[in-house]
Parts: sequence; C-alpha cells; structure tokens
Amino acid sequence: MPRHFLRDDDLAPDELLAVLDLADEMKADRHRYRPLAGPQAVALIFDKPTLRTQLSFSVGISELGGQPVVVDGRLAGIGQRESIADVTRVVSRQVAAIVWRTFGQDSIEEMAALSPVPVINALTDQFHPCQILADLQTVREHKGHLAGLSFAYVGDAANNMAHSYLLGAAAAGLDVRLAGPPEYQPDPRIVADAERIAAGTGASITVTDVVEKALDGADVVVTDTWVSMGQEAEKDAREAPFLPYAVTADSLEHAASDAIVLHCLPAYRGKEISAEVLDGPRSVVWDEAENRLHAQKALLAFLLERSV
Ligand code: CP
Repeated sequence: MPRHFLRDDDLAPDELLAVLDLADEMKADRHRYRPLAGPQAVALIFDKPTLRTQLSFSVGISELGGQPVVVDGRLAGIGQRESIADVTRVVSRQVAAIVWRTFGQDSIEEMAALSPVPVINALTDQFHPCQILADLQTVREHKGHLAGLSFAYVGDAANNMAHSYLLGAAAAGLDVRLAGPPEYQPDPRIVADAERIAAGTGASITVTDVVEKALDGADVVVTDTWVSMGQEAEKDAREAPFLPYAVTADSLEHAASDAIVLHCLPAYRGKEISAEVLDGPRSVVWDEAENRLHAQKALLAFLLERSV
C-alpha cells in the first residue's frame, strides 16, 4: 500500500519528527541518500502557479538520484480533458511518486485512492502540508526545539496555510494561535481535528479575531498573503478586513523580544508584512524557502520507504 501525504495529519506526531530529523540529516549531507537511484521518475503536476515548490521538488528529486518530470496541469487538463482516474492510471505506471498542486482537496483524494504510488499534496485550496514541514524545520533550527513554543499565525485564518498550521503545529506540540478577521476564520472541522491532535501532544489551540491575543509573547510570528491563488478577483475587497492583522514592527512589539518571523512566500511588502520586517533581522524566510528542499526530500524518502 502506498503512503500518501495529502494533509498534515497523514503523518503521526512521531512520524513528523522522524521526517524533520531526516530533513536535518539531508541538509547536512545533501547527496548521501539516493532512494530514487535508477533514476526513477517523479511526476510534478501544477494546476496553479509556483516557483519554490517546483524548484525544490525538482532539485530534491535529482539529489535523491531520481528524475523530476514537470507536467503543466493546465495543458493536461486533469478533470476536464481527461478524468482524474485515467490520469492517475497513466501517470502511476511510469513514476515512483506523484506530486500535485491543484484546487480541491477532493481531487487529490480521488487520485490517491487510485494510485499505487505515493501522492503528495503540493498545495490545494484546503492545505499546504509540504510548506509546514519546511516551516517546522526552520523553527527548530532557530529555536532549538518545537514543543511548547508559542506560534502565532495572523492574517487569513481561513486559508490553506492556516489549516495546515493548525494540524502540523499541533502535531509538533506547539502553542498554536490563529488570529484573523471574524469572516476569515478556519474551518471548524479542522480546528476540531487540531484539538484532537493537541490532546495527545501537549499542544494548545487558540483561534481568535484579536491580533494582540495571538501575538502576546509569541516565539514565532507567521503570516501569508491575503489573496490566495484563485482569489485574485477579490483582491481589492479582501484588503480592508486584513489591515489590522499586518505584521509590522509595531505589531511585533507584542511578541517575544527574540521572536522569529516566517512567511511562505511570495510576500507582498506593505500588505500582510512590512518590508522592514520581511527584510529585517527577525525574518527567517530565506532559510524557510531553502528548507522546502530538505523537508520534501525527507518526506519523499520516508513515504517511499513506508510504501509496500
Ligand atoms: N510557498 C510556496 O508554495 O511557493 P510557490 O507557490 O512559489 O511554490
């Protein structure tokens, strides 16, 4: 049976830590592990724009001894030109794993249900779990540990990053705080899932519309664009509600004096984060972007090893 990674809680808390440990090893010695030697191919399918995800998976698959094959999902027309089922049957005969960035979580779940090889979520409208692996690796590098740290995400608490932080940071035992406008709060089903995970890891979950409550003494401060992919037509309407949630030098006064700042990128300076913060000494966003490479290599190696 293949092991898939469709949402953050597809890794149990102990498995998450094992992947992060392996990511650290892979970062220290980039060419030591070659589970894709052959080379075996991995399909990278993108229905939405990308820089970091395509780059880091392509480089990572090559470093693991494999052959990345990028497929333009808009040309393939998955679900329109051809059914998800038929695409899965064709692609999975030729590759060791499938990485897919698409719209609905239901689409990637449909692919995974049919695929004999691991399927990895490279971002859907609901989750972005690969990003959270890199973020947790980055936090641990800078803070030395994860459990017990206070982790404040402010901005669009209804988007895929917010949902993935709820699940992934709960699994890592963090004090997870999400603050967003009342009309942009997370899916309550995912909050409930995060609370279930937290009960077993010692994490805590706070969801609020009060930005200061999330930021109070926080060790880690995180934000994301206010306009996720597919929401471009709502760009102007989405600005006003989020203005109080911007990460700025002033708002960081509420956080711990040694707080670090993450952003998955691309960032919009002067919108969700000020240039002063993004380009300032507390920002670890370039480490975070690099760690996509190491974390995803570790994930691929883990899933391939656990798939029988
Ligand atoms: N953070 C992230 O997923 O970047 P891309 O959209 O450029 O892949």
